Amino acid sequence: MMSNFSIPSADVMKQLPTQFFATLVQNVNREIAAGHDVINLGQGNPDTPTPPHIVKALQESADNPLYHKYSPFRGYSFLKEAVVQRYQEDYGVTLDPETEVAILFGGKTGLVQLPQVLLNPGDLCLVPDPGYPDYWSGVALAKAEMSFLPLKEENRFLPDYEAISEEDRRRAKLMFLNYPNNPTSAIAPLSFYEDTVEFAKRNGIVVASDFAYGAIGFDGERPVSFLQAQGAKDVGIEFYTLSKTYNMAGWRVGFALGNAEIISMINLLQDHMYVSLFGGIQSAAATALTSSQDCVGELVARYESRRNAFYDALGLIGWKATRPSGSFFSWLPVPQGYTSASFADLLLREAKVAVAPGIGFGNGGEGYVRAGLLSSEARLTEAVERIGKLSLFG
Ligand SMILES: Cc1ncc(COP(=O)(O)O)c(C=O)c1O
Repeated sequence: MMSNFSIPSADVMKQLPTQFFATLVQNVNREIAAGHDVINLGQGNPDTPTPPHIVKALQESADNPLYHKYSPFRGYSFLKEAVVQRYQEDYGVTLDPETEVAILFGGKTGLVQLPQVLLNPGDLCLVPDPGYPDYWSGVALAKAEMSFLPLKEENRFLPDYEAISEEDRRRAKLMFLNYPNNPTSAIAPLSFYEDTVEFAKRNGIVVASDFAYGAIGFDGERPVSFLQAQGAKDVGIEFYTLSKTYNMAGWRVGFALGNAEIISMINLLQDHMYVSLFGGIQSAAATALTSSQDCVGELVARYESRRNAFYDALGLIGWKATRPSGSFFSWLPVPQGYTSASFADLLLREAKVAVAPGIGFGNGGEGYVRAGLLSSEARLTEAVERIGKLSLFG
């Protein structure tokens, strides 16, 4: 029997941006269902497994009856101490585990919570363009507004603070930054973060640094953490995640680190939403952070060697693009006569290679496609060879 009982959603749900990349996934699946061998460079999901010693730590801790109970609301101290130790060793940044660390169900959760704890309806948030779409989601749920910070190639994909209007400076309460950057793969020097702290202080804007790709820097360079800049903790926080550093995307472990007032707001919101992560996962996450970091070095070396193979192949077909210094993404200019979406469609249809159209990351992403270095060197090279056969580059 048909029911005419209809269930309207809250207005705020209608503000949530549509998931642009859902269509891409559908298109890829259609090609695969039609029997084609698609090389999918469109996604950002690490392709190799979590290192065995971390998996073993979870297997062992799963047996511990302590972890079968509720975890402490704000998580186990040993995990907060573990991330604090990592920041001290890797970045020389000192943090207090109880007041300057919040444990998150992955970085994404914190990115979406932050606007909700800081912004009132109508407040302004500055977001990078192009940028990771989850920033938009939190702003929408807070019923706040966004103003875009253009990231341009001529400015090494860093925002130009001088170019921000008086009005935006006055109205903005929060700003997202993300280096190593998704999607452009740019990295930020310490001097940029020093300027950021100064800009934030002058204008009363909280800084949220998304350091999801913090571990992935090439050619011997470790990407700089925002918290390394003097005074960073006065004005903001950094999000860190185990998803990329240790191939733990499915485990959902992340952190907010830095300013104690903001951390306590996030913790308060989380007290009302969750009990912290499964204790066994917290224990294995602490193992990841405190045991030998060789697995991270090996992972970065693997991405670097894929980058080299991929860019060597791009060079051979005449596709000119800047080699990334960090992250596992390639940000590639589309040839004349195409939009990012029409070019991505062409590559999928004619070469059976999937890439993410830049427009999905904001208007500033137009003119580029993003390819992930998340397939073997052989597959990456084959993808470029297939594209080469289309003779699109001069
Ligand atoms: C820029 C950026 N930030 C944050 C995340 C979220 O990572 P997670 O929620 O797995 O910690 C991702 C994941 O792809 C990302 O690309």
